[in-house]
Amino acid sequence: MSTLSSKTIPSAKIEAVRDHLLLWWHANRRDLPWRHTRDPYRVLVSEVMLQQTQVERVIPYYERWLQEFPTVQALAAAPTAEVIRLWAGLGYNRRAVNLQRTAQAVVDRGGTFPQTVGELQELPGIGPYTSGAIACFAFEQDVPFIDTNMRRVLHRVLVGVDVPDILLNDKGITELAALVLPPGSGWDWNQGLIEFGALQCTARKPLCIICPMQDICAAWPDIQTAIAQQPRGRKVSREVPFKESNRYFRGRVVDLLRDRDRAHTGLTLDEIGPLVRAEFQEADLPWLFEVVRGLEKDGLAMVAEDEPVYDAASSESAAAEPIDLGSVRIRLP
Ligand code: ADE
Repeated sequence: MSTLSSKTIPSAKIEAVRDHLLLWWHANRRDLPWRHTRDPYRVLVSEVMLQQTQVERVIPYYERWLQEFPTVQALAAAPTAEVIRLWAGLGYNRRAVNLQRTAQAVVDRGGTFPQTVGELQELPGIGPYTSGAIACFAFEQDVPFIDTNMRRVLHRVLVGVDVPDILLNDKGITELAALVLPPGSGWDWNQGLIEFGALQCTARKPLCIICPMQDICAAWPDIQTAIAQQPRGRKVSREVPFKESNRYFRGRVVDLLRDRDRAHTGLTLDEIGPLVRAEFQEADLPWLFEVVRGLEKDGLAMVAEDEPVYDAASSESAAAEPIDLGSVRIRLP
């Protein structure tokens, strides 16, 4: 990977990119609920929800979440099962549990969020993107950070065509992000980059024809042909179809516990098996137990009774007291 230094981008271009993008942002910005706040807790919630989910889908979840857990303290103190329940439908349930862990860490340090990117990243569940987003969107700091949309926009405008492959790694793109960020306008700039990537410079149908940066864009006009030559749909077909994947079954188990175990007393693996997998057989119990173990490791499920000792290699203990895996009860944490 090559790295592009500030010397290779003329300052006039940097100025032009800043001006065009900020002008576009002020004319096209959507009125989204998390753009009305500087509360780091609210910014955190929105950014975690937005990580793998579309804006329109996130809005009602965001509103409901803040009604239920209006403060970092409320989230930290909530039963994890409730946190997972409220996340239902957003997908990637691990995000809900991680969000609560972040909240608990903030409460442990007195209930105030740290303000620097470095300290924010020390909180569990917070990576380079989220720490940058909180520092910028809550504390209005001029810090660079990148997500998929921002990476695409910066790469196209400043480096060139990004398909089939990008030419700069994330370190290089973050350096560019730092270089072009207009001092004093970090909040607008970073929201603008996200918005421009979402509405104008999209992955497969960028609106180059009406783009204010067409004249100065490093990817124009080649980007249009490059995209047209891309195979449609997924780049590579999955080795394992999604409906047979571990992630699919993990989601099914959590959905089931959420919907059918209102009493929070747990469901047995015998009950869970046929409800998550049509062709489930007794021989699949060890597999299901491993799926559940994975969920337990991520804080998404737990064994509701005394833990059975499950050790396939230890025939001795198995012989002494055979484990009835099917009767093991599982519940949300
Ligand atoms: N995706 C990630 N962060 C976002 C934000 N602040 N606004 C809109 N979409 C986003």
